Amino acid sequence: MKKSVDGLDLVIPDNVYDPAEDSFLLAENVVIQSNQKILEVGSGSGYVSLYLAQKFPLAEYFCLDVNFSAAITTHQNAIRNEMNLHVYSSNLFTATISQNNFKQFFDIVLFNSPYLPYADKGVLEKAWSGGRDGLEVIIPFIENLSMVLKSAGVVYLVVSSKTNLSKLIELFNSNHFLYKMLDKVSEGKEEIILYKLVRKL
Ligand SMILES: C[S@@+](CC[C@H](N)C(=O)[O-])C[C@H]1O[C@@H](n2cnc3c(N)ncnc32)[C@H](O)[C@@H]1O
Repeated sequence: MKKSVDGLDLVIPDNVYDPAEDSFLLAENVVIQSNQKILEVGSGSGYVSLYLAQKFPLAEYFCLDVNFSAAITTHQNAIRNEMNLHVYSSNLFTATISQNNFKQFFDIVLFNSPYLPYADKGVLEKAWSGGRDGLEVIIPFIENLSMVLKSAGVVYLVVSSKTNLSKLIELFNSNHFLYKMLDKVSEGKEEIILYKLVRKL
């Protein structure tokens, strides 16, 4: 599917997540300073990073996705919009860490995560289904953040009111993150929630 969103020309195949309210919630709330290094986990179409690169052009953007088609789509949409993103096909931080020197490299990590408590296993379904409690991908994401995030780094994480939020808060605490609910948006009976995390000193 070809579409224009916020001045970006995007081509999005059927097996890649189409930007929706959760994508817009994330993109609109992130604030980036010049020269910062940004990592978007699960970049899908590339919309969020391209929106941010358009708004904050003096930062450096890295994207990864476990869905190979999504990684290709992010790359192609960057070229289509004449923007520069570094794109990797990776299950969370595995490829970025093993192939590159990204140890505690990023100022900001973003993740519009697969947060719904369903267990679909298709490649597109993995864009939103987070298995038991909606936390199957979020748990290893939070537990491994310290490999790539600078000690003063910031994390933006999108989840839903359907995610097991009490377990999520326990996860933040046990991994020494301070959290703040930055914004939320209603989608029928569901609320989509954006958390901002920083490390406890
Ligand atoms: C809700 S979609 C968000 C896509 C895009 N960031 C946006 O906001 O429009 C979640 C994305 O995370 C990716 N993803 C799921 N599990 C992942 C994992 N373990 N490692 C990397 N990416 C993952 C999915 O393939 C999908 O592209």
